[in-house]
Amino acid sequence: MIPYGRHHIDEDDIRAVAEVMRGELLTQGPKAAQFEKLVADYVGARFAVSAANGTAALHLAALAAELGPGDTLVTTPNTFIASANCALYVGARPVFADIDAFTLNMDPGALSATCASVKGVKAIVPVHFAGLPCDMKAIRAIAREHGALVIEDACHAIGGSYDDGSRVGNCRHADMTVFSFHPVKLIAAGEGGLITTNDEALYKKLLLLRNHGMTRAVSDWTEIPRAFENGEPNPWYYEMQHLGLNYRITDMQCALAISQFGKLERFLARRREIAARYDDVFANLPGLELPQRGLRNRSGNHLYVTCMDFKAIGRTRGEVMLHLRAQGVGSQVHYIPVPFQPYYKARGLAEGHWPNAEAYYEQALTIPLYYGMSDDDVEKVIGAVSALFSGTARSAAAAGRA
Ligand SMILES: Cc1ncc(COP(=O)(O)O)c(C=O)c1O
Repeated sequence: MIPYGRHHIDEDDIRAVAEVMRGELLTQGPKAAQFEKLVADYVGARFAVSAANGTAALHLAALAAELGPGDTLVTTPNTFIASANCALYVGARPVFADIDAFTLNMDPGALSATCASVKGVKAIVPVHFAGLPCDMKAIRAIAREHGALVIEDACHAIGGSYDDGSRVGNCRHADMTVFSFHPVKLIAAGEGGLITTNDEALYKKLLLLRNHGMTRAVSDWTEIPRAFENGEPNPWYYEMQHLGLNYRITDMQCALAISQFGKLERFLARRREIAARYDDVFANLPGLELPQRGLRNRSGNHLYVTCMDFKAIGRTRGEVMLHLRAQGVGSQVHYIPVPFQPYYKARGLAEGHWPNAEAYYEQALTIPLYYGMSDDDVEKVIGAVSALFSGTARSAAAAGRA
């Protein structure tokens, strides 16, 4: 079975994790700091704060942005639920701005209209869908007009670059950028997340919030009589000054992420090569559209998404997925628009309509893309997908059923 996405682990990765396990510190330690520096330097941001996973990182970012009841967070409907849930965690209201039909990213025109039509917009969370960076200059300009912070959800986009060629996560047009290192992403940490920022105050807040809102920094202590004895800091002492969480990542996970990071360019190059091959052979199949085609060089290429005309194929999407699976080819749908989720609908959080996101969802199918695919795997996917559009697959399946 060729899944739609898969991590790639080698013996170096395993050795790196085992080395931590033979040491003293299993929870957060020097590997986390090393990983943070590695990512900050790679993307070109001043600070990085690691976290237990991407969802935790988004929650921390929402807390650091001081979002709360009465505030609105605008994101895209075409994303994983976590991009919007981070508003709900802090009591804010998520609202959705439609996507551009080709890039499948938040459309600045729709964002502008959405921001003008709702109250209390305090944060904008664009998502670099499938790895393709959004138009951050335009989004930042709209955010400024409304006095909103920008938190980039770059969970798909490590290794991607903006249209000026600079790397995703440098926060030139954002206050914070969030990454995920879930195994299906480019870099696997098991579970893992990280936030980059250039703002020192946000950085310090994120550090506090990640660790129970608790500080051991002597200069920050406020309860002087309890904290000091004869002018000396008490060695056991710590203070909780905010309501934080335990969202630390372990050194075992960071050792894996560091080892994986050394292979990022190789991972990216192979993903680009496969995407380019798909782009070439699928370019002229009637009934198959390739959003984001031509933009692969700027993308992290986390996912290869297609738009299929299921009517023209003569099968429902479910049938296509089962048919592909029967040939050993996995597929998935990214994403069901978030406001379609029952939790959102039940709370009246789905406002307005999103024609582009809805039209895309009707036709969406993600096909396999990951570093470890062999050339034979790629050709097998190409064969199975092409056959859907030739009529051959239909008759072969009908013969099989007969
Ligand atoms: C766009 C997006 N945001 C956030 C997340 C959450 O990341 P994690 O799974 O690391 O919590 C994901 C994960 O799939 C995602 O795709």
